[in-house]
Amino acid sequence: MESTLFDVSGRVAVVTGGASGIGLGIATALATAGANVVIADLNGDAAQAVAEKLAADTSAETMALAIDVTSTEQAEGLITKTLERFGRLDILVNNAGIGIHCRPEEMTMEQWDLNVSVNLRSVFHLSKLAYEHLRDGGGKIINIGSMYSIFGAGEVPAYAASKGGVVQLTKSLAVAWAEQGIQVNAILPGWINTGLGAQGRREMEGLNERVLARTPAARWGEPEDLAGVAIFLASAASNFITGVSIPVDGGYSVA
Ligand code: NAI
Repeated sequence: MESTLFDVSGRVAVVTGGASGIGLGIATALATAGANVVIADLNGDAAQAVAEKLAADTSAETMALAIDVTSTEQAEGLITKTLERFGRLDILVNNAGIGIHCRPEEMTMEQWDLNVSVNLRSVFHLSKLAYEHLRDGGGKIINIGSMYSIFGAGEVPAYAASKGGVVQLTKSLAVAWAEQGIQVNAILPGWINTGLGAQGRREMEGLNERVLARTPAARWGEPEDLAGVAIFLASAASNFITGVSIPVDGGYSVA
């Protein structure tokens, strides 16, 4: 007898920011496990290349969409086009995020608004748009937080505030939509080797050494390290788990 507990085959997943880094790692994991995947990213060319590669390398059907998650019209278009192409939506991965490096006393309100809009407002907006489609059959929302959902960060205050908000929003949507059979959970990545991770190493002096010294696993994570938890939270294996935030951090948050 084969287990179907972690089966996501035939399900339709939207991954924002899916063209690189953690989003790419999660999109690859879902496609490899048999889900059809929509790669939605500001970088349309990179999204297209990823969609083509995943379609070639796996049995998944894929679609690329160039979108800015902060745009109301483009967010609506993402859900509409996903339904037009696949006829359903089962899994929403709110992964797109940016980190504006600026001390609070120097940060402009435009910088604040942009960071919070990409990292938090879009999570609410896309979840709200997806709701009526997800509720039709065991929908899953997976939000990407951060270690800065837990810890304060003097150098990236808007980033940390938005990521703290992602955890609270995750709990609130989980409570609101549990009866509709939608599970809403978050992943809190530790320090992961991506474009954003490299930006952090450039902009925050001594970051590489601090991360290696403070992380019990003594290494940066790789996007592939998010694969297992993404499949778990996207599949029936997590059907009675909602509103939680799972660190994937080599022990960083408990050391
Ligand atoms: P990344 O910079 O490698 O990838 C982010 C992707 O999001 C890019 O493809 C980018 O084009 C896309 N994107 C950015 N703004 C967008 C927008 N407005 N609309 C649509 N797409 C947009 O970054 P990474 O590291 O893969 O980050 C992904 C998520 O993981 C982010 O939410 C980030 O905050 C979070 N994270 C990353 C950590 C790390 O160490 N790399 C640690 C904790 C959380």
